Amino acid sequence: MQKAGLYLQRVVWSRRATSWDEMQNPGLQRVVDEMIELIGDRPLEFAIDLGCGSGQLSIPLATKTKSVLALDIAPKMIDLLNEKLESQKIKNVQAVVGSVQQYGVTNGTVGLVCSNYVLHHLSDKEKQSFVHDAFRWLHSGGELIFGDMMFGRGATAEDRAVIMDKVKTMMSKGPGGYWRIAKNGFRYLFRFQEKPISQASWVTLLSNAGFVEIEAIRIVSEAGIIRAKKP
Ligand SMILES: C[S@@+](CC[C@H](N)C(=O)[O-])C[C@H]1O[C@@H](n2cnc3c(N)ncnc32)[C@H](O)[C@@H]1O
Repeated sequence: MQKAGLYLQRVVWSRRATSWDEMQNPGLQRVVDEMIELIGDRPLEFAIDLGCGSGQLSIPLATKTKSVLALDIAPKMIDLLNEKLESQKIKNVQAVVGSVQQYGVTNGTVGLVCSNYVLHHLSDKEKQSFVHDAFRWLHSGGELIFGDMMFGRGATAEDRAVIMDKVKTMMSKGPGGYWRIAKNGFRYLFRFQEKPISQASWVTLLSNAGFVEIEAIRIVSEAGIIRAKKP
């Protein structure tokens, strides 16, 4: 993503930070809960949460690992997370402003790279680089686990089913929903801000990067989780 794209994400998400933090979305919560369940109670020294928002994943993760690096492009998200860390007296999460595309970690030092509802903002080329970066950062046996909207632009029956489901949900909301159909349709079609890919495409990217034991799980219509291990 070019500098302008990163700047846009930074501005958009800083503006949306408070409403995102306060939003109750049962579908999204199911994705977070399932990710925490998948992470389980393995011994973990160091985990990274990319696009951490206001800590939806980083805070539960703090009880499961010695040290968490929580990264987000939007300073306002990091401010909200720092407020929570202070009020809940959580000391092992380091919250940092930065982008997935430009961040670097020492190779072979990370036990878990995770991320929720962020990677669809990356271009296809950036997704590919990210997968290779995550592979390098992880130590042997480390895992990449991420949740996101996962569907392509309609080439497969599965994609079309997800898209129809989204359209029906939005239509049920009346005129506001029609506006969202137009807005989101434009974004998905022209890959503006929202660039989800299918689970099958993710699996191919991960497999090409060297990951093994790749598992793709569908949680709700548009959203899935992928986990993969570094051998
Ligand atoms: C949909 S929110 C998800 C937040 C949180 N992970 C959750 O589960 O609720 C997307 C988050 O990704 C962040 N983000 C978007 N693009 C990013 C990028 N290129 N690098 C780092 N963070 C990014 C946004 O600032 C925002 O906090």
